[in-house]
Amino acid sequence: MTAELWVESKKEAALPPALKIGPVTLANPFFLAPLAGLSDWPFRRLAKEAGAGLTVTEMASATALAHRGRSTLALLATDPGLEKPFCVQLFGKNPDHLAEAARAAVDRGADLIDFNLGCPARKVVGSGHGAALLKDPQTLLVLVRALVRAVNKPVTVKTRPAFAPGVGATVFELLPRLVDEGVAALTLHPRPASAGFAGEADWSLVARLAEKSPIPIIGSGDITSPEQALERLRNYGAAAVMIGRGARGRPWLFRQCLEVWRGETAREETPAERLATAERHARLLGEMMGPRAAFKLRTVLMWYVKGWPGAAEFRARICREESLEAQLGLLAGLARRQEEVCRQVKPGPERQ
Ligand SMILES: Cc1cc2nc3c(=O)[nH]c(=O)nc-3n(C[C@H](O)[C@H](O)[C@H](O)COP(=O)(O)O)c2cc1C
Repeated sequence: MTAELWVESKKEAALPPALKIGPVTLANPFFLAPLAGLSDWPFRRLAKEAGAGLTVTEMASATALAHRGRSTLALLATDPGLEKPFCVQLFGKNPDHLAEAARAAVDRGADLIDFNLGCPARKVVGSGHGAALLKDPQTLLVLVRALVRAVNKPVTVKTRPAFAPGVGATVFELLPRLVDEGVAALTLHPRPASAGFAGEADWSLVARLAEKSPIPIIGSGDITSPEQALERLRNYGAAAVMIGRGARGRPWLFRQCLEVWRGETAREETPAERLATAERHARLLGEMMGPRAAFKLRTVLMWYVKGWPGAAEFRARICREESLEAQLGLLAGLARRQEEVCRQVKPGPERQ
């Protein structure tokens, strides 16, 4: 499945459903990437409301889920009416735990199970999880088999081209074996795990993999604008694109992706819209976490005010505030300043 097929199906029907992962149909090819610490249900809800075709939970430990760990089970919280399909990402290295965790996720409404084979974080790799499994393809395939057998939902994987150049298996070697095991789609973040997030994502690897692949290949890496999302979709043969860091504090990016996909110009969000979305994000986090949300908001709200004058001072002040209401007060003040700047840059008709 390539972008051309999406385009063809768009021509044929007013409604564009085209990409299928197993029996699961995706509404569009713009997905929110899993982001540990950020892609909780409040952020996924905002991305979904803006039109994201798929949202994925942050990675959840299969072992913790198999033991019904409360904080890990909380990662599986969703909006059942909105977040459809619901994709839960697992990491693990014990086949029984992965199978048990996948069943727990399906019991909680998961339509897709994604297996993390790409996380390069020292703690994760050091304990033999995530991208470390690329160094041990036999074990990796046993784990994938356990997942596929455990649930009657599609199992997908998200991975890197290799652990490091010349180390372990490459994604090109693994792809046919993953397909044989029944994997329904693969997301490639085209940087070796050893590079972490340094350097540029090499999208030519996505193109090479997609060319050979009988299953949908989803590309993930360095997309920061709707135009770039469409360009990656068109030029690299990906069935869909995932956006991670570029969507932090910008969930409306998915609305903009859909606009450019329809051939329109992406509408810039106004400071008022930015403020309203940030406030909503803050309140949803408050609903999820109670007063502890204020701590998380010190990071989350910074993403929303990026580029606004006074953002650095805002950062310093928000870290001293312990209540959500006080943080929102500061945010509103900064947004008013930004509105003023915009008015001065673009005089309204009454000033012309
Ligand atoms: C803070 C952070 C957390 C991430 N957490 C996850 C995760 O839980 N699971 C996963 O598969 N990838 C995770 N990733 C990788 C992203 O999903 C994505 O593949 C990568 O950031 C490249 O895309 P981007 O340039 O659009 O961010 C994370 C990346 C970052 C920066």
